[in-house]
Amino acid sequence: TKVGVFFGGISVEHEVSVISGLQAIDAMDNRRYEPVPIYMAKDRTWYTGEKLLDIEAYKDLDGLLKEAHPVTPVAAENGGVILQKNPVPKFGKREVAHIDVAFPVLHGTFGEDGALQGFFELLNIPYAGCDVASSAAGMDKIMMKQMLRDQDVPVLPDVWFYQHQWEEDQTTLQKKIEDKLGYPVIVKPSNLGSSVGIDIAHDSVSLETVVEEAFSFASKLVVEPLISNLTEVNCSVLGDSEETETSELEEVLKTEEILSYADKYQGGTGGKGDTSGSKGPGGMENTDRVIPAPIDGELSTEIHRLAKETFRALGCSGVSRIDFMIDKNENQVYVNEINTIPGSLSFYLWEPAGKDFTTLIHEMIQLALK
Ligand code: DAL
Ligand code: MG
Repeated sequence: TKVGVFFGGISVEHEVSVISGLQAIDAMDNRRYEPVPIYMAKDRTWYTGEKLLDIEAYKDLDGLLKEAHPVTPVAAENGGVILQKNPVPKFGKREVAHIDVAFPVLHGTFGEDGALQGFFELLNIPYAGCDVASSAAGMDKIMMKQMLRDQDVPVLPDVWFYQHQWEEDQTTLQKKIEDKLGYPVIVKPSNLGSSVGIDIAHDSVSLETVVEEAFSFASKLVVEPLISNLTEVNCSVLGDSEETETSELEEVLKTEEILSYADKYQGGTGGKGDTSGSKGPGGMENTDRVIPAPIDGELSTEIHRLAKETFRALGCSGVSRIDFMIDKNENQVYVNEINTIPGSLSFYLWEPAGKDFTTLIHEMIQLALK
């Protein structure tokens, strides 16, 4: 079976996706599957070729792309997809490679939000992971929370609004935030990953600054109360609408008030992490994590249950990682977000129970082909 591993993409998580994608290719069982790398450059052009497998080569991207093949994925007459040379040659072979199943490892915008999944639907190729609707719902924090509230999965209260609403009537929105949530609050773009554009406001003055800053990342924002005494715990779910299983839990340690992009990928901003580059789990190098999360049994059971319920409520399939917040003062757990294409597909959460990355990928592909 030829597996097209799609990575890169146009989102702010491009670099993370390259690491995740190459790690997935590396882990793929090569007796069963033949991985074909398919890299989307930031200008939205697709490339394939052996050279793309070398992580070091991305340091000289222009050089790398000169040695790769620009391609266009098109539906093949006999099923699957061919990677057609771009531009199409007048004479000779048009096809660089053929793939039977797509394996998306693009994080964030256009990769994780249903757009790429819609592309696969149109190409009529089976693909691993969530479908169009669950990807879209999972990427938009507002939609996600509405769907979870409907199924009694605990999420934080919020106020959300479009940029034009803020510009037209900031006073009313500010009052709404103050009445419903109080300070401090956390302001988030509704549809970005990796903590990009997220910041905290402690009063009306900083709210204005933070909101305006966040609008440079997205035109729809969600504001939530800030939990001051917080533990972040993540759980991964594998399966589909019929059957699911959950992974071990991880506690994610943070070095600042918010777990920033730097914490996640650059080992913290205070020089805490080891930036010398020991390869951590899937594009999540240098994040400090504790596996299994040191939480009590009852709470752990509840988080596993809520992870499955979140996966079901959104209609997910394949593997997703659900990120929880535990308010330690209130002893209350909330679903914070879902990553329908988690960093290296969260393989490190499955390893403790004996499911290695190779098996995880195999099971994801089998679910795609089911
Ligand atoms: N969005 C990143 C890759 C994650 O949370 O896994
Ligand atoms: Mg996350």
